[in-house]
Amino acid sequence: MHDPQTELSQRFSAAIAEAFGPEHAAVDPLIAPAKNPKFGDYQANVAMSLGKAVGRNPRDVAADLLAALDVGDLFDPPDIAGPGFINLRLKDDYLSQCAASLAGDERLGVGPDDSPQRVVVDYSGPNVAKEMHVGHIRSTIIGDAIVRVLEFLGHTTIRRNHLGDWGTQFGMLIEHMIDTGATTQADSFHVGDLNALYQQSKQAFDSDPAFADRARDRVVKLQSGDPDTLKLWRLLIDESYRHFSEVYARLNVRLTEDDVRGESAYNDVLSDVLADLESAGLTVLSDGAVCVFPDGFAGRDGEPLPLIIRKSDGGFLYATTDLAALRYRIRDEHAQRIAYVTDARQKQHFAMVFQTAKSAGWIDEGAAQDSSGGVRLDHVPFGTILGEDGTPFKTRSGDTVKLADLLDEAEQRAAAIVARKNPDLDANQRRQVARVVAIGAIKYADLSSDRVKDYVFSWDRMLAMDGNTAPYLQYAYARIQSIFAKADVDPSTLRNSPAPTDVPVTHPAEKALILKILQLGGVIRAVSETLEPHRLCTYLYELASSFSSFYENCPVIAADNDAQRRARLILCDITARTLKTCLGLLGIETLDRM
Ligand code: ARG
Repeated sequence: MHDPQTELSQRFSAAIAEAFGPEHAAVDPLIAPAKNPKFGDYQANVAMSLGKAVGRNPRDVAADLLAALDVGDLFDPPDIAGPGFINLRLKDDYLSQCAASLAGDERLGVGPDDSPQRVVVDYSGPNVAKEMHVGHIRSTIIGDAIVRVLEFLGHTTIRRNHLGDWGTQFGMLIEHMIDTGATTQADSFHVGDLNALYQQSKQAFDSDPAFADRARDRVVKLQSGDPDTLKLWRLLIDESYRHFSEVYARLNVRLTEDDVRGESAYNDVLSDVLADLESAGLTVLSDGAVCVFPDGFAGRDGEPLPLIIRKSDGGFLYATTDLAALRYRIRDEHAQRIAYVTDARQKQHFAMVFQTAKSAGWIDEGAAQDSSGGVRLDHVPFGTILGEDGTPFKTRSGDTVKLADLLDEAEQRAAAIVARKNPDLDANQRRQVARVVAIGAIKYADLSSDRVKDYVFSWDRMLAMDGNTAPYLQYAYARIQSIFAKADVDPSTLRNSPAPTDVPVTHPAEKALILKILQLGGVIRAVSETLEPHRLCTYLYELASSFSSFYENCPVIAADNDAQRRARLILCDITARTLKTCLGLLGIETLDRM
């Protein structure tokens, strides 16, 4: 069974074709949940645009549409409002059937996408020999949510961790490793503090000219593939990755070591990329450096902006590697869509890389492989995390905040709250609850703010038990589980033994709750389109509010009769499963008891 919105879209499309001819059949009927329940449950807004297209008064267009529309089995007779809005109200029977079908459906009425795609999601991308800091947290958390949403809709994702694992800084790092006694044996190399390693190397480089010379020689050795140098470089990467993977495990993100394809993975093809750009006639020699001037980019002075492909000393750059990665993802990984999750400051970098790839003809090459009409490239930018003083988030001493320290503090703070709220839990349970609440709070605070905007990092706000926070939503979930415990009902028995065929709806708050749950599919699809997880958060908060008003107005355990009690328990169950599903798509766990 379709959700009402999909059902309406299909029936409106048929009506549009019948009343206005098949040439308009592809027009989007613009069905949306009604803004105000006073006017109905859904509205169709197509009459205004269609009126313009056919040169007629939208109200007349709406009237003709209604004459051709066949929805009488599911909706009350529609009416036309204002300039030509069509308002629709579900019949009670239909609403009951919708609720029943949600009850028996693991996917809560959300089917997979009609045309599944192969999507590369490029996220996290920390830099070797540097501690992951709060700047990487957003990419990791947002990218992971995007992956989960796309997969829920049946897309195949290729998760790509574009590790910063190459560059001239490795000369000084490796030389410093040798000075401090590192050998090429894997088990002899461990770094407690990656940042200290980096800072010490940098200090030696800046203060000791002989060291600096050795470091430069080491870069040459690394680039020419000297085996011992490569072994040390590999040790440094493995050791760094061990640090990253600890953070990934704590954050419960989907990235694994198999998803790593760092900058160095493209070294061998950088000269092919250059050759490609040359043969497409895109390269210009400027002061010894090879540049591309992508169309449409100019500096403040109006001069065209270069994308430097190869420096005059022969070195390749970040952009070159990104071009190589893009070409690889299209040609070898057959991506149909590629999403890059990085901070907003890299916006121009990606715009220039994308334009260069288009001019080089790589995008169409991808289009030829499948009939999807081209590869879609999305830069998914996000804003900066700010401290409560409105400047970029730092420790009290002014250093960048290490991600691991941040997670430790979150768990301590959550543990204190849990101990206060629920002193009955034993130490083990308390630790488990604190972990789930802490990680949920950090992730949700990040995901719920408008992605491209900066947001203020506030412990008090993210850990608050009310408002649009993870603890509030996790608590709403746990509260529903306690209703089942009190009613002594196993919720799985409400789903399919036998599957309910009809869930009687009597109270407006019940109806509002079901309608809210029926919006789930539209919201998830909007997130997959816009790659904006905060839409799912807004929805979750609205859902929790609808549930609260249902629970205030409609006694569940003390319902009037058995049928009503069962119907209300079913509403509790589908609400809980919707909360759990959405939080899961955001990478946030739920608990039965908090
Ligand atoms: N390592 C980069 C940084 O720390 C992020 C990599 C993003 N991905 C990419 N394909 N450029 O800023």
